[in-house]
Amino acid sequence: MTSAETGNTPLIIALSKGRIFDETAPLLAAAGIEPEEAPGSSRKLIVGTNLPDVKLLVVRASDVPTYVQHGAADLGVAGKDVLLEHGGEGLYEPLDLKIAKCKLMVAGHADPTQAPPVEGRMRIATKYIHTTRRYFAERGEQVEVIKLYGSMELAPLVGLAHRIVDVVDTGNTLRANGLEPQEHIMDISSRLIVNKASMKMKHARIKELIRVIGDAVAD
Ligand code: ATP
Ligand code: PRP
Repeated sequence: MTSAETGNTPLIIALSKGRIFDETAPLLAAAGIEPEEAPGSSRKLIVGTNLPDVKLLVVRASDVPTYVQHGAADLGVAGKDVLLEHGGEGLYEPLDLKIAKCKLMVAGHADPTQAPPVEGRMRIATKYIHTTRRYFAERGEQVEVIKLYGSMELAPLVGLAHRIVDVVDTGNTLRANGLEPQEHIMDISSRLIVNKASMKMKHARIKELIRVIGDAVAD
């Protein structure tokens, strides 16, 4: 065990169940942190670990930066898509964990004859409204952005929007719905984030954790 694993300073780590937890678990294991149960395997939202002073908060993926920003968690794991949308206030982002890799894309009808005509501004459906506005504004394109919370792929099929902005990995979800990726906005992976005050107050503990996890990140 390293000093990062044995220090007495309590550490709270926020992450989401599913792919983020599944892909973070080996990195936590490399730091000697083993959850008592997999997040999501029960209804528990605070999950203990083998280390009495390390606890996991199980939160929605898009809520992770909020918990860390306000200091309810010292550390968190969040996708770059979520961090861009949050804005990153109050957070350090010391490590690219190179997990949950995907691409943020503009997508639309694969068959242009199926696409509804654009009269006036093009409508873009997305849960990433700030990132989407920024992307199109930088290109000098005036669009109307429609906020959705999921299943963005449906929006062009029923005429709610002309195109969507969403993360794409295999492209299967787009294909299954007659859509195709059209513009690459950016590559996405998940990051370790740290509350700025925690970084000061628990410096040695967090620095060591970053070092050990950084060594375990796949190249
Ligand atoms: P929320 O519950 O807040 O709506 P979510 O359902 O998007 O979030 P997850 O599906 O667990 O949460 O995704 C977490 C992160 O994983 C995303 O922020 C993104 O960075 C990445 N991700 C999303 N979809 C994929 C995918 N198909 N393949 C790889 N990585 C993905
Ligand atoms: C994400 C995203 C796409 C899909 C893309 O959804 O919102 O729908 O993955 O992956 P693909 O290109 O490999 O098909 P997710 O599976 O996370 O479901 P949810 O966001 O609706 O919970």
